[in-house]
Amino acid sequence: MSNRVCEMLGIKYPVLQGGMAWIADASLAAAVSEAGGLGLITGTAPIEWIRDEIRKAKKLTNKPFGVNIMLMSEHADEVAKLVCEEGVSVVTTGAGSPGKYMEMWKENGIKVIPVVASVALARRMEKMGADAVVAEGTESGGHVGQLTTMALIPQVVDAVNIPVIAAGGIADGRGVAASFMLGALGVQVGTRFLVAKECTVHQNYKDKVLGAKDIDTDVTGRSTGHPVRVIKNKLSRQFQKLEKDNGTVEELEALGRGSLPRAARDGDVINGSVMAGQVSGLINKEESCYDIIQDLMNGAKVALDTVGGVYE
Ligand SMILES: Cc1cc2nc3c(=O)[nH]c(=O)nc-3n(C[C@H](O)[C@H](O)[C@H](O)COP(=O)(O)O)c2cc1C
Repeated sequence: MSNRVCEMLGIKYPVLQGGMAWIADASLAAAVSEAGGLGLITGTAPIEWIRDEIRKAKKLTNKPFGVNIMLMSEHADEVAKLVCEEGVSVVTTGAGSPGKYMEMWKENGIKVIPVVASVALARRMEKMGADAVVAEGTESGGHVGQLTTMALIPQVVDAVNIPVIAAGGIADGRGVAASFMLGALGVQVGTRFLVAKECTVHQNYKDKVLGAKDIDTDVTGRSTGHPVRVIKNKLSRQFQKLEKDNGTVEELEALGRGSLPRAARDGDVINGSVMAGQVSGLINKEESCYDIIQDLMNGAKVALDTVGGVYE
């Protein structure tokens, strides 16, 4: 199932692992890359940690992997330089414009793939020189936009000439096949990789995803302009109550501060933020990254063969 995205990124299957803050480390990224996808290390962390994880990943795999850079991060400038120094082959970006780094990254042969949630942003990124875009629907875990994957992907595909990678709500072969049907040439998966054996997120977090059903996620933070999809718990209810009671942005930010590491590293899934997507209800076992990617690709082939489609 090799295609343009595989050729561009030097990977076997067009499957990217979402670069999840506080979670996506060398263990997960290298396992995904070894299994034929593209692993991503989070760049939302202190610079030394990111450098160490990049070096660890290089020891674990000689296949390509990338770094996800949230451009609003205070460390963005440093991380932008680090990926050049360390010879990282792919960068995905979110929360801001990668414009000021584009020339430096291109000179270093880095493929740049911004994450977008609208047609306008996808067009802007293409003009800026992006190699592809990840178009992410609101079903996804973590920070979300407004549009669903089903509505967003074909509109972005029609608007740009660079490859579009679909994200949000894709957790099995049917989702991969549907993404191809909508015109995407690859997928980015976050929530299913949360429960991968090689993912070092706290076991309580994995159990929360494995135990979730279809209606167990909700979006908090719409009033702050930073909406986030999480599995409902005490913290999300407190957050929503404060939003309803017209809490100030400062009060809301104080409640949310440090809440992802509290859940992801400390395992406090009651008072921490358990970011995960609407597909949590579809995910019911912990598996290796290899098995996950095989299941995604074999399932896609079965789904596409069933409807007589093509997958290149
Ligand atoms: C716990 C968690 C943390 C995330 N953190 C980031 C992040 O730091 N940067 C980013 O670009 N996307 C982030 N995402 C989004 C993923 O990269 C990916 O696009 C998304 O999870 C895909 O949708 P899915 O969850 O339905 O598979 C995060 C997602 C989750 C579940």
